[in-house]
Amino acid sequence: MVDNINAIGKIHNADMNNFNYQNTTRYVFGHGEFLNIGRLLSPIAGKVLLHYGGGSVKRSGLYDAVVTSLKEAGIEYCELGGVKPNPSVEPVRRGIELARAEGVSAVLAVGGGSVIDSAKAIALGVPHPGDIWKLYTREEQQSATPLPVATILTLPAAGSENSPNTVLTNEQTGRKLGYGHESLRPALSIVSPELFLTLPPEQMAYGACDMLCHIFERYFTNTQGTELTDALCEATMRTIMQQASILRREPQNEHAWGQLALAGTIAHNNLLGLGREQSWACHGLEHELSAVYDVPHGAGLAVIVPAYFEAVWTANPGIFAQWAMNVMGVTPSRDTERVVREGIARLRAWYRELGLPQTMAELGLPADADYAAMARAAVATYGARLGTDCLPGVHPLNVVACEAVYRAAI
Ligand code: NZQ
Ligand code: ZN
Repeated sequence: MVDNINAIGKIHNADMNNFNYQNTTRYVFGHGEFLNIGRLLSPIAGKVLLHYGGGSVKRSGLYDAVVTSLKEAGIEYCELGGVKPNPSVEPVRRGIELARAEGVSAVLAVGGGSVIDSAKAIALGVPHPGDIWKLYTREEQQSATPLPVATILTLPAAGSENSPNTVLTNEQTGRKLGYGHESLRPALSIVSPELFLTLPPEQMAYGACDMLCHIFERYFTNTQGTELTDALCEATMRTIMQQASILRREPQNEHAWGQLALAGTIAHNNLLGLGREQSWACHGLEHELSAVYDVPHGAGLAVIVPAYFEAVWTANPGIFAQWAMNVMGVTPSRDTERVVREGIARLRAWYRELGLPQTMAELGLPADADYAAMARAAVATYGARLGTDCLPGVHPLNVVACEAVYRAAI
């Protein structure tokens, strides 16, 4: 494996990198806060596009509560539901047309990461003169400020409620691509933990796995001098694992949902990534699985992450041993390899405890899955954006190494 890994990126900086961080989201947390959506939206918009998913918000009564609050505040709305997990570009195009025709001044997403990402895409597309998908493929450049996005989160996972990112799938081309711009951080996000009580256990598990990986992508770095963000990352990782384990046993524990949701937001609003060289290799590999086989993002990550760690840890044993000891509770030892391998074994055990898949077969991939094609696509997307022929990370992976990670997880 190591022979297949390109050696670029082994630069050890003496101190953390410079950074420029602005987080513009008004973040409102707590029981019952979603009932204030109308009042909180008033300064932002007079008319909104209300965007939601496949029906959970109607079954739970949240839709009715939101509509009532909008009416009480005198906010007009039109609506577009039906966003599916791993959201597609086609309904986004319809949403853009609707938002333009109705003259809305903001998009209100009520749902999980898929609904929020679709809402961001609509908000981005309304003032964009070209085709929205061409922003995701980088064939076109963003030239206008998106409409403001507000969110009521119903599933703590993707962190989109406070991230500047959106991820869409184009079913025609079989590609799942992300787009990021600071103007896409929601203007307002409301997180009320009682809204998570209707989630099935597998969605909790996918969500916890996703948020943990958002920290892995930042934490496992070759950047030196990152003591503060190391410690913040470690505390947030421990919190996610502890609270998800509680929720596995007690799915109605609202306090645990609140802790998990706050950790999930912090995991991906880039506070934890300040000044660090970041990886996103596991996300690059996973997005190909979701694009081709429509697997849940968090489930795909549970299969990819252990195989990825085993492929790259030798490039920076220190950070992996630090994680194993400070997060996974492995007893310190001079035998670094034993410490790291025990950390990875404990991570696998935690995935199992949550009921997450461990192999490509458990994920539902066919025996003849084309891992070589997915490896090429992942490198083409993530490497090309950085001008390399590798997925970045503590140990950059070329196409052959990426395929080996996929195959190690079969
Ligand atoms: O569609 P409905 O009926 O609402 O059902 C949803 C959906 O089937 C259901 N659900 C949501 N809230 C519920 C509920 N069911 C019962 N009670 C509730 N309170 O959960 C299912 C999954 O929802 P989805 O939004 O797809 O999940 P998630 O939040 O995990 O989002 C996944 C998407 O986010 C992207 C992923 O790639 C994927 O497309 N990501 C976005 C990121 C970002 N924008 O920053 C970063 C992430 O790394 C990730 O890539
Ligand atoms: Zn993710």
